[in-house]
Amino acid sequence: MLTRALQLLPPESAHGAALWALRRGLVPAVTPPSSPRLATSFCGIDLAHPLGLAAGFDKNAAAVPGLFRLGFSFVEVGTVTPRPQAGNPRPRLFRLRAQQALINRMGFNNDGLEALRARLMERDPRWSPLGANIGANRDAKDPVADYVACLRGLYELVDYVAINVSSPNTPGLRELQGQARLDELLGALIEACSALAGGNRARPLLLKIAPDLAPDDEAALAEVALARGVDGLIVANTTIERPQIVPRRYRDEPGGLSGAPLFLKSTEQLGRFYRLTGGKLPLIGVGGILRGADAYAKIRAGASALQLYTALIYRGPRLVSRIIGELDRLLELDGYARLGDARGVDTGT
Ligand SMILES: Cc1cc2nc3c(=O)[nH]c(=O)nc-3n(C[C@H](O)[C@H](O)[C@H](O)COP(=O)(O)O)c2cc1C
Repeated sequence: MLTRALQLLPPESAHGAALWALRRGLVPAVTPPSSPRLATSFCGIDLAHPLGLAAGFDKNAAAVPGLFRLGFSFVEVGTVTPRPQAGNPRPRLFRLRAQQALINRMGFNNDGLEALRARLMERDPRWSPLGANIGANRDAKDPVADYVACLRGLYELVDYVAINVSSPNTPGLRELQGQARLDELLGALIEACSALAGGNRARPLLLKIAPDLAPDDEAALAEVALARGVDGLIVANTTIERPQIVPRRYRDEPGGLSGAPLFLKSTEQLGRFYRLTGGKLPLIGVGGILRGADAYAKIRAGASALQLYTALIYRGPRLVSRIIGELDRLLELDGYARLGDARGVDTGT
């Protein structure tokens, strides 16, 4: 009902209204089915089930308790940049309803690091695990310094940090995925992380990648990630590709495409990264998860945990519960006692 009503509003207004309702507890709490089969973990973070909320929905941590009440097992806030920024001019978010997809060119609109820190300092620690996704300001002179500033500011306040080098909406950002630039960025972040940990186990650092990398670039990225000791990968962000299924009127709309048309591409990439990293790195699978079968396919392609965003726009508050129930049945049907037993089975490794 609420989901249908929101569909009548322009997409960004609907998003604002959904966050408002979530913040005020106006969305019913949903308890996903609990089953020992569904328990999983990534980077030492234990989860009752694998499905978390992807970055970009709650950029400023405005509605964290409400999002956990929808049943997500973890939530990633951000992308945050050191200084607040308005993002791109509107319209910058487009619904492709028949395709269960979105195109967005938000451009890291966010309240900035200090505002996010203030919200996270007030938060009830019961609402966890919580990740923060970090980026660079559009006009950053030294993007590496921007990432380091965000890491330092958020380190104590979250359970993991996701490094976003894959948004298509900040010019030049994706170039940070190139071997030399990535090595420099990860070197700086891992050094900062070790210093902050002061001899203790450092907070996990995950790298969120684009689905549009060329095969050689994927191999080079996996090599740098392993050599630098990144704790995990988030596969993947939105795509700049426009498959045939995208209606003609949206083909030339710049931005990242998410939802159902991203499913196959991001799941195949997940499988490639499982192989490239020899199954050694935890992978979070994201891109086009709408139902339990999609979640199951990502686990079989090598994911330890999952995230979604776009399906929430179309499928409403019972979504997490439905997907998790379906996933549990699919694991049971195939005779898996634990989710981890199904991890990577489709990759032939
Ligand atoms: C409107 C919108 C805004 C997004 N903003 C961010 C962001 O700030 N940072 C980020 O890492 N990913 C962002 N994403 C990408 C999602 O986190 C996710 O990787 C992508 O949408 C694929 O998952 P989905 O098909 O389930 O939506 C955004 C996606 C959408 C639709």
